[in-house]
Amino acid sequence: MQKCITILSLLYSLLKYGETACYYSSNACPQVEKDFLNVHIVPHSHDDVGWLKTVEQYYYGANNSIQNAGVQYIYDSVLEELWKDPEKKFVSVEMEFFSHWWKEQSSHMKRKTHKVVERGQLEFVGGGWCMNDEAAAMYVDIVDQMTLGLKFINDTFGDCAAPKAVWQIDPFGHSREQASIFAQMGFEYLFLGRIDYQDKAARLSNREMEMTWVASDSLNTSIFTGVLYNTYSPPPGFCFDILCGDETIVDDPDSPMFNIDRRSKQLVAYILEQSKHYKTNNIIITMGEDFHYQNAHTWYKNLDKLIKYINKVYFNSNIRLFYSTPSCYGEAVKNAFVEALPRKTDDFFPYASDPHAYWTGYFTSRPTFKGLVRHSSNLLRACKQIQTMAVKRRSNVLFQFQRSQAIAQHHDAVTGTAKQHVNNDYLLRLDQGIRSCSKIFSESFNHLLSLNGSTMRQEYCTMLNISQCWTTEQNAPFIVTLYNPVTIRSSHTVRIPVTDGSYAVTDHEGRLVASQMVPIAEAVLRLPGRNSTATNELVFIAEDLPPLGLRSYHVQTPEGKPGRRMLRSRSRTIKLPNEKDVTVSAYGLSLTFDRHTGQLIQVGNEMFQQQLLFYRGMSGNNSQFEFRASGAYIFRPNGTEALPLQPVTKLTTIFGPIVTEIRQHISANTMQIFRLHRNASYIELDWILGPIPIEDGIGKEYISRFTVPAIRNNGTFYTDSNGREVLERQLNHQATYKLNITEPTAGNFYPVNSFAYVEDKLTKMRMTVLNDRAQGVSSLLPGSLEFMIHRRLLHDDAFGVGEALNETAYGVGLAARGTHWLTLGNSETVARFLAQRMVHPPILMFAPTTFSAEEFRQSYRMELALINRDLPPNVNLLTLEPWDDEGRVLVRFEHFYGVGEDERFSHPVTISLKDLFPTLKIQSVEEVNLAANRHIRIVNADELVLNPMEIRTLIVST
Ligand SMILES: *[C@@H]1O[C@H](CO)[C@@H](O)[C@H](O)[C@H]1NC(C)=O
Ligand SMILES: *[C@@H]1O[C@H](CO)[C@@H](O)[C@H](O)[C@H]1NC(C)=O
Ligand SMILES: *[C@@H]1O[C@H](CO)[C@@H](O)[C@H](O)[C@H]1NC(C)=O
Ligand SMILES: *[C@@H]1O[C@H](CO)[C@@H](O)[C@H](O)[C@H]1NC(C)=O
Ligand SMILES: [Zn+2]
Repeated sequence: MQKCITILSLLYSLLKYGETACYYSSNACPQVEKDFLNVHIVPHSHDDVGWLKTVEQYYYGANNSIQNAGVQYIYDSVLEELWKDPEKKFVSVEMEFFSHWWKEQSSHMKRKTHKVVERGQLEFVGGGWCMNDEAAAMYVDIVDQMTLGLKFINDTFGDCAAPKAVWQIDPFGHSREQASIFAQMGFEYLFLGRIDYQDKAARLSNREMEMTWVASDSLNTSIFTGVLYNTYSPPPGFCFDILCGDETIVDDPDSPMFNIDRRSKQLVAYILEQSKHYKTNNIIITMGEDFHYQNAHTWYKNLDKLIKYINKVYFNSNIRLFYSTPSCYGEAVKNAFVEALPRKTDDFFPYASDPHAYWTGYFTSRPTFKGLVRHSSNLLRACKQIQTMAVKRRSNVLFQFQRSQAIAQHHDAVTGTAKQHVNNDYLLRLDQGIRSCSKIFSESFNHLLSLNGSTMRQEYCTMLNISQCWTTEQNAPFIVTLYNPVTIRSSHTVRIPVTDGSYAVTDHEGRLVASQMVPIAEAVLRLPGRNSTATNELVFIAEDLPPLGLRSYHVQTPEGKPGRRMLRSRSRTIKLPNEKDVTVSAYGLSLTFDRHTGQLIQVGNEMFQQQLLFYRGMSGNNSQFEFRASGAYIFRPNGTEALPLQPVTKLTTIFGPIVTEIRQHISANTMQIFRLHRNASYIELDWILGPIPIEDGIGKEYISRFTVPAIRNNGTFYTDSNGREVLERQLNHQATYKLNITEPTAGNFYPVNSFAYVEDKLTKMRMTVLNDRAQGVSSLLPGSLEFMIHRRLLHDDAFGVGEALNETAYGVGLAARGTHWLTLGNSETVARFLAQRMVHPPILMFAPTTFSAEEFRQSYRMELALINRDLPPNVNLLTLEPWDDEGRVLVRFEHFYGVGEDERFSHPVTISLKDLFPTLKIQSVEEVNLAANRHIRIVNADELVLNPMEIRTLIVST
């Protein structure tokens, strides 16, 4: 019987669609009827790429006591159903899972799968490696994770399978940059699951659930956007998964359980109610939930009965149900539309699901993991560059790192909303990626720099963030090699952990370089888990590193002539209170700290305050909205006032020719370090914080607040979106709906990935603060910005993770260290260049050596540019990666200024690829869309124009 059906359906598909047709050609979509209410039934499974279980546990269905979920069974089971009946449809979203399943299939099964894809039954939706988060993910990581998934689809099924629709049905708020990225990737339809409850209520009553999202101020990116009626769940009572207990459909009139008449009535009532809130004669009904369809038959069997019965009985009411997909629904809506859709130009942040559940805590949750994700993003990007220019082939280890970084963008990964054991798995994956890239760096650096074939074991120090590096602590002489991953010459202040002593730093031209010994701060020395003999950092400036270039420095303990150009820092400790305010001036900047409180109060002549404060997290049992606890997702402070930490006990000033620091001692494990650099116009602020005390039984959420009273910003502030285009925010205000603010603090927090600012419209004075990892930010007080930097909470907030966000490491509460950069200037001072430096610092590799500086220079090239000239300063080489085994290379250039942002830099620029990369011989260049899955045209690579905020994606044959 089985076989018979199989042959029949094969014949059917051959007759109906032919071998070559693209499945998304409209004949793969069900016919919609003009005079009917067309009900698109969309079977789907929402498969988190790690959350309560790890990625692998979810795939294999292990650890089912936590959650009954096994994605391999879902695809096994669904494929069987699709194969049996060409009417049935299903959507596949997360390529991490689908590609895993694919890898394990027989060629027979693969052929069947090809068939159901061609028939338009299995539709890829989104098709990224995961369904990425939209608040804490950087744009480069979003682009990469989408590209990885879509490349798998194209490589496996060809361009006909390229998805036209994307759905972000679970992320906790939606960014405008994400919509812009999707538009640039050629998606036509975007569907959202979660929007703010007040926004949703307004849209439902105004029938504005569907709109055109104009997603950029600089680019012509807009995308049809629809908000789903019931997030992504089935209508209540119509969940037919083995995981659900809803009443099955009985259509046998002889059965005492016969219910299809009554059940159909219920569903039709729901359908009619839903359709009141949408403008066309189409509605979409999501039939699925988290990890549903392990036994697809139970779903389809019941849906089949309902569809058949309702289509018969309600024919005269002009209601038609059929299996469909998001792209078929989108197309039907587009074709049905007569009037213009409403426009949306801002974003969907913050997201509240009820009056006391603002999902703004996850902007900061797990700050050290967020820091690692940012760090590994820069490393991966650099690693791909090096792999391309030095090795020129793809490699599996690189792919595994790309995969890990893609997984880390999932909406329970970088968000910090997975269970602890799952987060450990994410960490482990990134750590493996970093280790394999350090091998790629080491081998490539040897290959590129060695003059006589000798090699060094170059080590990447993963613990530099806590001033720990075995190679530099235990060895002298040693070599430090920097790789500058940006396409302009740039200078960088190098800090190398060393033991006490005297060091001489020699550059590529044999010159001694000025250096400074800076003692490592006490709070760093005391960081839990630190295992280091380093007591100092050797600091020097690597001046004008070549673009995409390498430079080595030789560092030794000088014999005889003690480190001629090395200077010790002069340090002084001031106990508080002091008689007068403490002012520190260096390299043309000055900072003043209050004599009593030790807080920063002045920068130059301008009042400029900075303070660490904390909110007390609400505790609660979540039984009602007002008993909601602050947790991994939700920020809910108890009270609106942020409280001060214990007073600053002393200030330590450290003067030197390269860096000058002011250390604020707050407690044994809490400290701030303000830094002025000889070669920088910004102020660097390091914060070291944690374990967060919880002995009083209260969770705490820490903020760093910056205030310039002279800036009258009138409740307006600005944040980037995924590190890219800027959005204006207004306190207690939303542009598209009337906001009734029930959480005055949490409801005004927004995600920030790389910078935020406030400015005075009249005087044009602007304070910009750059951050080194994703955080939440607000401007609750005049002239201020507050960044949430760390949080530790004792209660679960009842959105599924089932754990309190109470991170520990080394047996105590998690300690974290991070950095902000501050600038004060006029509004012309755009933070873009600084953000580039913050996001793309050089990669440092270390190697012990027995050579003297001079001997080393005989054996190794000490400087090398991998690009023949600087690119214009407003251009970023976003991507340079091996693309296939035929030596093709994926390249993306981006203009990182927006229209009107800057007099000088917001203009189109022209670049040329001609003779740009000395190690790559370019044969031809083809332009593709942002996801690199659609050809656009062959281009003349001698002249590429980039408009403000434009990204151009090229496949280069070498
Ligand atoms: C500290 O680091 C050294 C060198 O890597 C290692 O041999 C030692 O086991 C480490 N000690 C601890 C407690 O981790
Ligand atoms: C909020 O803080 C007050 C003290 O100001 C305390 O009495 C109360 O128990 C706290 N409530 C919750 C739910 O944490
Ligand atoms: C401040 O903002 C409010 C609300 O947006 C606006 O009505 C008012 O005119 C603004 N005041 C100034 C001085 O810009
Ligand atoms: C996608 O796959 C097709 C078929 O294998 C191939 O011809 C095409 O070049 C691929 N598209 C891109 C952008 O690489
Ligand atoms: Zn999810």
